[in-house]
Amino acid sequence: MTEFAEFARSLAREAGSLLREKLTGHNPVYHKGDIDLVTEADQMSEELILARIASRYPEHGVLSEESAEKNERAAMRWIVDPLDGTTNFAHGFPFFCVSLALEREGTVVLGVVYDPVRDELFSACRGEGAFLNGKKLSVSSVKDLSASLLATGFPYDIRVSPDNNLNYFNALIVRAQAIRRPGAAALDLAYLAAGRLDGFWELKLKPWDTAAGCLLVAEAGGVVSDLQGGAWKLTSPGLIGSNGWIHGQMLDVIEKARSS
Ligand code: IPD
Ligand code: CA
Ligand code: CA
Repeated sequence: MTEFAEFARSLAREAGSLLREKLTGHNPVYHKGDIDLVTEADQMSEELILARIASRYPEHGVLSEESAEKNERAAMRWIVDPLDGTTNFAHGFPFFCVSLALEREGTVVLGVVYDPVRDELFSACRGEGAFLNGKKLSVSSVKDLSASLLATGFPYDIRVSPDNNLNYFNALIVRAQAIRRPGAAALDLAYLAAGRLDGFWELKLKPWDTAAGCLLVAEAGGVVSDLQGGAWKLTSPGLIGSNGWIHGQMLDVIEKARSS
């Protein structure tokens, strides 16, 4: 795993540097949907990442946000978000990251999330703990929802779908100490792993938003489940991550909001 981890860490740094340089430059924005953007930086970061993977591991599969899946039957698959936090990036709001994960036979074994603005590299290999710039991470020890700092996000179909997370947000905002909407799910999960957040939930995320971040949370001693408290999978329609202590309390509030 060390070889893959070193490759992923160096690649995340390289793509992140590209994003950092583009942040201050001219960066055309295109619309994928009403409010769903893609920038030239997403595309350039993705091209760089896919080229490096293809040249080093041509037999590996790749699932990346802006491209069709490659080598679908491969045992090893990279799951790539070349720029998580595109809306932030497009506005010059400096909270975004590169997220890379490696799956072996359907299990995520490696996750790297890199924030190029703060030069913070979060990484985890399954069974070996989670680290920030080489320093071991553990989730927070906040035990009460009322004292917790949570984060969430809202899906791109928020304007047209009733399943838009506002019911859960309304229920949790009056129970937690505070809620943030930072705008980059992979980095939110990394912050949870680092104990900077106590809980996170979101609906309709994609594998590239969650693969690396959920491994970070688990390896930092946290808990990840689906919105019903069942086992979370890359394809689950929603996820709750927490420090473990407040997991049941978050689930209770979400369950009540769902059934009211
Ligand atoms: C988005 C961000 C955002 C989350 C959205 C994601 P993108 O990813 O992670 O925080 O709320 O659901 O799609 O589009 O910036 O890669
Ligand atoms: Ca994303
Ligand atoms: Ca993205």
